Amino acid sequence: MKKHYDVAIIGGGIIGVSIAYHLAKAGKQVVLFEANEIGKQTTSAAAGMLGAHAEGEGHEDVFFQAGRASQALYEKLKVDLLHESGIDIRTSAGGIMKVAFTEEEKQALCRMQHLSTFKWLDASSVKKCMPQVTDHMLGAGLIEEDVHVEPYAVCRALWQAAVRYGADVKECTPVIEVKRDKEALTVRTTKGTFICDDLTVASGVWSGRFFEELGLSHSLYPVKGECVSVWNNGPALAHTIYHDHCYIVQRDSGKLVIGATMKPNEWQAVPTLGGMEAVIQKASQLMPSIKEMPIEECWAGLRPATNDRHPYIGRHPEDKRILFAAGHYRNGILLAPITGEIIRDLILDEPVKEEWLHAFRIGRKEALFV
Ligand code: FAD
Ligand code: GLY
Repeated sequence: MKKHYDVAIIGGGIIGVSIAYHLAKAGKQVVLFEANEIGKQTTSAAAGMLGAHAEGEGHEDVFFQAGRASQALYEKLKVDLLHESGIDIRTSAGGIMKVAFTEEEKQALCRMQHLSTFKWLDASSVKKCMPQVTDHMLGAGLIEEDVHVEPYAVCRALWQAAVRYGADVKECTPVIEVKRDKEALTVRTTKGTFICDDLTVASGVWSGRFFEELGLSHSLYPVKGECVSVWNNGPALAHTIYHDHCYIVQRDSGKLVIGATMKPNEWQAVPTLGGMEAVIQKASQLMPSIKEMPIEECWAGLRPATNDRHPYIGRHPEDKRILFAAGHYRNGILLAPITGEIIRDLILDEPVKEEWLHAFRIGRKEALFV
């Protein structure tokens, strides 16, 4: 007999496990299928910045609102997850220091000046708290709320807590096919066939094939990011240093995560020498001493991108039983808690902010991001 669940989730990255956690905690019978190992694809490649301000480039749009809401959810989540899973998601204070080299960059940053969360520091103030930063800058915007977490720790904690609430998490179980008729949704995997009342597609950049299978023409494409980590043999960084998609993040372990390239349409999640060269060159302009630090490792991941760079979070336009949570691009770690809550509330028929549903809906007219 085929096993029946309330909700099936395809994909065990941070988005899928956040959904599993929120639904299982609300009492739903959940199954999650992961093709490989939980959290070992794009989620593990992330730096873990909760960059609502830094990534939003100062625009107070719907992304910024959702990002800020998700940052706030992390406050409670880190306490709950420690209790529920025993795992510390390693939130680091300090936030992001966004460096400006030109007057134009300073102006762009100072668009956030009216926000109480933003502080402009001139070069001498930056050097006082961060002597490692290059002398060749005008100053920096400090956003203390853009803290960072350890992405794999968050993912593992959500997964373990979801299992504790009864979720059935199946690793090494790729979904081969989804079938829908009036009576049931059927999910065929390499380890058997399952029936569910609701289905959420959360398979990151690999979600495109399910869009197609479920009658939608939406596509996702990868933007490959390459990173390198080094052992910091100098004083710890008080804040993440960030400039033009390049960042240096201090981890508790003493290493610095340095990222990242932006290579659209590259499907091979393998770092290249050219990629490393580009990252090191940019990062050493921000912090010259990194060139002397021993390399720990390098890696690459595939950011799941949509045309307008906003994720798809919501229901299938014609079939209420099917939901999507994919395309989180540069911000899946930031947006994991809010995505889990939105999908949970949709499935439970609880209210969800209309402007988020509208902005992230499938079938929106997507302006091409430039
Ligand atoms: P994934 O983590 O890729 O998970 C999708 C899962 O679906 C995979 O495990 C895959 O195996 C599985 N899957 C695929 N097909 C199937 C199938 N048929 N059946 C079953 N399972 C399937 N975000 C931030 O917020 N802050 C950051 O600082 C940050 N830094 C980043 C740095 C880099 C270099 C990169 C590449 C990304 C970064 N991101 C960051 C973005 C973030 O990593 C992603 O947005 C996020 O990980 C996407 O999560 P996901 O669960 O959608 O995808
Ligand atoms: N958000 C950082 C990155 O995607 O590289």
